[in-house]
Amino acid sequence: MIFRRPLTFQGWAVPLFQAAKSLIAHAERIVVLTGAGISAESGVPTFRDEGGLWRSYRAEDLATPEAFARDPRMLWEWYGWRRGVVSRCAPNAAHIALARAADKGNMSIATQNVDGLHAAASTPERALVELHGSLFRIRCTTCEWRAVDRSSVDASSDDTLPRCTTCGALARPDVVWFGEALDPTHLERAFLEAATADVCLVIGTSGVVQPAASLVSITQLAGGAVIEVNPVETPITAIATVSIRGTAVDAVPRLLEKAG
Ligand code: OAD
Repeated sequence: MIFRRPLTFQGWAVPLFQAAKSLIAHAERIVVLTGAGISAESGVPTFRDEGGLWRSYRAEDLATPEAFARDPRMLWEWYGWRRGVVSRCAPNAAHIALARAADKGNMSIATQNVDGLHAAASTPERALVELHGSLFRIRCTTCEWRAVDRSSVDASSDDTLPRCTTCGALARPDVVWFGEALDPTHLERAFLEAATADVCLVIGTSGVVQPAASLVSITQLAGGAVIEVNPVETPITAIATVSIRGTAVDAVPRLLEKAG
């Protein structure tokens, strides 16, 4: 069942929405890949959309180890600002519907988001992989120290930046920057989930950042179905079994609700 046209909820697309629902309802294992779009309706800016973070900033100025080495205060200021934005946001109906579904045990969620909203929606830890890390964790630039840190960041001087409580070296956000490898344990777990899933549900990602985007092809190559939820066409649309043109809050709770 391959539907390559942009779909909407209206008219002839409704049966296809039902087909997507049915694929999910009958799946033994579901892997979910989420991107910034799932948090857009919570008020968290995306990266590449109009008004997105990479429209107002250059990714390579702010999301690379080189940028941090060059100007840690600037980086911490930016991450502190993002923490502030996200702290004022709450999980939306899509995060909550996924958390409930994951709680039942046959769904795992791999997210590219660092906003912590899947965890805030009470997604069970066993079902969640934060592929790109978290805005609310920090780690030492020198030793292995890591910690949860939700405090506001004071980037007014080098002396006020977050420090390792073990060795005193500068701490950095525990996120994956461009040019850095993902945690191999996280990646292996997500790849395994993708390879054994009957359905890969892809929500709110432009699908252009690897290796996260390749989870979709892994499920597809292993014979599983791909269901995409995104208001616009993306590179994933071409391989999607069903591509739903809608927002996460509109589509995800309805896709996951039981029929009848
Ligand atoms: P992008 O900003 O690239 O893509 C966001 C996607 O969400 C777009 O395809 C939008 O059409 C879609 N979208 C917008 N509003 C939506 C809504 N209400 N419901 C559903 N979808 C919506 O963000 P990502 O794909 O997450 O990496 O970006 C991937 C990675 O690139 C990020 O994790 C980050 C970034 O650079 C790092 O920082 C390493």
